[in-house]
Amino acid sequence: MTKILGISGSLRERSYNTALLRAAAELAPPAAEIEVFDLSAIPLYNDDVEAAGDPEPVAALRAAVAEADALLLATPEYNRGTSGVLKNAIDWLSRPALASVLRWKPVAIMGASSGRGGTRRAQQQVRDALLFPGAVVLEQPEVAVPTAWERFDPDLQLTDENIGAAVTELLAGLVEVTQHNQPVAA
Ligand SMILES: Cc1cc2nc3c(=O)[nH]c(=O)nc-3n(C[C@H](O)[C@H](O)[C@H](O)COP(=O)(O)O)c2cc1C
Repeated sequence: MTKILGISGSLRERSYNTALLRAAAELAPPAAEIEVFDLSAIPLYNDDVEAAGDPEPVAALRAAVAEADALLLATPEYNRGTSGVLKNAIDWLSRPALASVLRWKPVAIMGASSGRGGTRRAQQQVRDALLFPGAVVLEQPEVAVPTAWERFDPDLQLTDENIGAAVTELLAGLVEVTQHNQPVAA
């Protein structure tokens, strides 16, 4: 079983990105399960706070990422970039530098926005932020959901079949990369 941790970069209760993660959880292949981690309680990154010891929500996030086989990130797009919420979480997770829980972690990125670009620019920023920490980020397929209000019903169920198919393909790729990413036995 591949354990995938889903993280949404939006804290909004009716977030399309969180809804996209929930859709992914329903579309996950039998060999994978997706749990969603809520970033609401994560404080702003501060070196001094980290030096004094992880606040409890940060410790919980780090542990959840460490236990997961792979991550599925859903980013909104704010002013052509990712959200501070998601970047902040990546900054916490990237520590200690070069020896963090992100190192070698398979990561898939997707996103939903109300604009026509469907978070492509935000996704690129997330990808860039994961490079130095050494995560293994899938290049494709791309799941960028434009004009998000047209793709979900009032109960925030995904109604766009093409997006559903792309999410299914992304999950299959993430599971495949995770299976190829097993540590070599000593
Ligand atoms: C501060 C701010 C900036 C935004 N900038 C963009 C943008 O650059 N591109 C875009 O497509 N949508 C932009 N939007 C609209 C968001 O895509 C939209 O609010 C979306 O629903 C946010 O994701 P969520 O539903 O997961 O919260 C912006 C929204 C806010 C609040």
